[in-house]
Amino acid sequence: MRRASLFRSTPFRLAVAFGSLFVLAFLSTGFIAYQIMKADLAAGLDSTARETWSVVAATYGGGDLEDLVSAVETYARLTKPEDRIFVLQDRAGKTLAGNFTMTSMPAGITTLPAGGLGLSGNASYRIVSGKVGDNWLAVGVSLAETDHLEKIALTSFGWALAIILAIAFAGSALLASRVQRRLDRIADTMVAVSNGRLDARIPLLGSGDDIDAVSSQINAALERLAALVEGMKQVSTDIAHDLKTPLNRLKLTIESAVDSNERGAPVADDLNEARAEVDRINETFDALLRIAQIEAGSRKARFAPVDLNDVAASIIEIYADVAEDDGKSLVIAGGYHPASPISGDRELLIQMFANLIENSIRHCGAGTRIDIKVENRGDKVVTEVADNGPGIPPAERERVFQRLYRIEKSRTTPGSGLGLSLVRAIADLHGAELSLEDNRPGLRVRIAFPAK
Ligand SMILES: Nc1ncnc2c1ncn2[C@@H]1O[C@H](COP(=O)(O)OP(=O)(O)OP(=O)(O)O)[C@@H](O)[C@H]1O
Ligand SMILES: [Mg+2]
Repeated sequence: MRRASLFRSTPFRLAVAFGSLFVLAFLSTGFIAYQIMKADLAAGLDSTARETWSVVAATYGGGDLEDLVSAVETYARLTKPEDRIFVLQDRAGKTLAGNFTMTSMPAGITTLPAGGLGLSGNASYRIVSGKVGDNWLAVGVSLAETDHLEKIALTSFGWALAIILAIAFAGSALLASRVQRRLDRIADTMVAVSNGRLDARIPLLGSGDDIDAVSSQINAALERLAALVEGMKQVSTDIAHDLKTPLNRLKLTIESAVDSNERGAPVADDLNEARAEVDRINETFDALLRIAQIEAGSRKARFAPVDLNDVAASIIEIYADVAEDDGKSLVIAGGYHPASPISGDRELLIQMFANLIENSIRHCGAGTRIDIKVENRGDKVVTEVADNGPGIPPAERERVFQRLYRIEKSRTTPGSGLGLSLVRAIADLHGAELSLEDNRPGLRVRIAFPAK
């Protein structure tokens, strides 16, 4: 079998789709976090610059320019220009103190590169400038620090993304390959089954997950299929085996006829016997075909409401005399009880009762009493055919339903072992539960039909 490539498999595609969604979610949350951090850093820097400006400007409190000039000089000397810068200019733009130059002094806050301020390096500065008396004071704070922090944030974000991508895709491939292996096992099992290995089953993990649930359903279906095929094989062998006996008998009868003919003796008896044998073989085939036809279920389309009391009355009408002639009695146990109608095929139901009554007549001795009962029990309509004959031992109660199966002691009575198989096929067609019980003594066959 050609395996579906892992990359084209549904589990892998699903895993990749989930992985991509995860990465997308990480990217968008990361982007938002980065923007918030950037805005926060910028706001913090601006407030530092404004505060520093106010502190320096405050030294002009008494209107003494000397104080302001020396304060600016001290600040400029004590702080590194890569950190903070200061400048004080008079009204004409002449620098009075400080460590950088401003060509123009816009009031407020601006960002300017180091080059434009007469400084070395390539950092930019946030500059706060404003008038102090008649003079202009400007204080700058380097953006190098916040740029550095942003770079760190971006680098860690990049690494995190790379790790997440690697984990997401490696994890996807791993998970997908595990699911794929399990799907492959299902496919392998189906291939084995279609190649004739009916005992192949899908191995279960026992985790009770959805794949396990589907697998065990497939296994159950395979189990039924195997049982059906096994049953079919068994039936074919049984039929072949069981037909050998009448065919051998037929051959012997024909040989005896040929023999008699050569001796000039009459052959009519042999021929009549041969005809009877052929008739019996024909009947067996008819019964087998009938069971197969009923099992196919097409007669369900002809189902109509049937009153089982009605069916029982017809059966008694047909068989009461036959039973009596055979020294047996056939009665409705305790008289008729009202029973709900069922949905069924009247002709088949009569056939079913007939088979059961014929069994009681055939397999029980003289003086046997055969009881028929029809009554409502809950949502079922239960029918019983009971006799006080020899009964069927518990160990045989399942086997007697097999086609052509007859209990050893009945082998001498006429019959082909198909009567109860037909009863089961008809009960199954009607969705009825069929059971054989001990009537102490005798056999009780109970069939519970679902009420319509
Ligand atoms: N009422 C019964 N009492 C005792 N044994 C029974 C009774 N009904 C069935 N059996 C046993 O079950 C076996 C299977 O019955 P089934 O009706 O399938 O076949 P059969 O009666 O032998 O042949 P036929 O195909 O003619 O019905 C019988 O051979 C018989 O041994
Ligand atoms: Mg029978």
